[in-house]
Amino acid sequence: MEMYTPEVLISEEEIALRISELGRAITNDYENEELVVICVLKGAFMFCSDLIKKINRPVRLEFISLSSYGDGTNSSGNVRLEMDITANIEGKHVLVIEDIVDTGLTIKTLLNMLALRKPSSVKLASLLFKPAKLKHRVDINYLGFEIEDKFVIGFGLDYAGRYRELPYIGVLNAGN
Ligand code: PRP
Repeated sequence: MEMYTPEVLISEEEIALRISELGRAITNDYENEELVVICVLKGAFMFCSDLIKKINRPVRLEFISLSSYGDGTNSSGNVRLEMDITANIEGKHVLVIEDIVDTGLTIKTLLNMLALRKPSSVKLASLLFKPAKLKHRVDINYLGFEIEDKFVIGFGLDYAGRYRELPYIGVLNAGN
């Protein structure tokens, strides 16, 4: 069995602290409104799970699955809808939860798709933002961390389907 431990970029403790802060900000912004939280699979599952525990408002949880990377480290340029939400979001307050905004293509495609369904409002929470690769301008309402141009893994993020289970954000080293 391989014994490879990736270098830590953002620790479990730093992530937990930041998620608590984001949860407080979201709780304050939504007063008593019900929120439809859309978790963008697969990468956002861990961030979403921890974040909604810190949102002290009624939440309805939905999942959507989009994919653009396949098994490589670069975006393919095409976003595939693999699984849609089941709820009708017309007139609802929607909070989309992403793990990372990189080129911005995935989230731009998703936000355009959701806007056609006439929600009352749509906001975005993303654990990570990598400005170096950005091609499509995106407003992130609740951002965890801005990071350098490194291929990151862990806390939901994968490389070729691996490393999602790491409790921290790590950096993928070439050759591993
Ligand atoms: C990753 C990540 C974001 C997207 C960000 O998803 O989870 O959704 O890429 O990249 P972009 O800003 O360049 O579009 P991926 O396609 O790897 O699917 P996954 O979440 O199932 O791993």
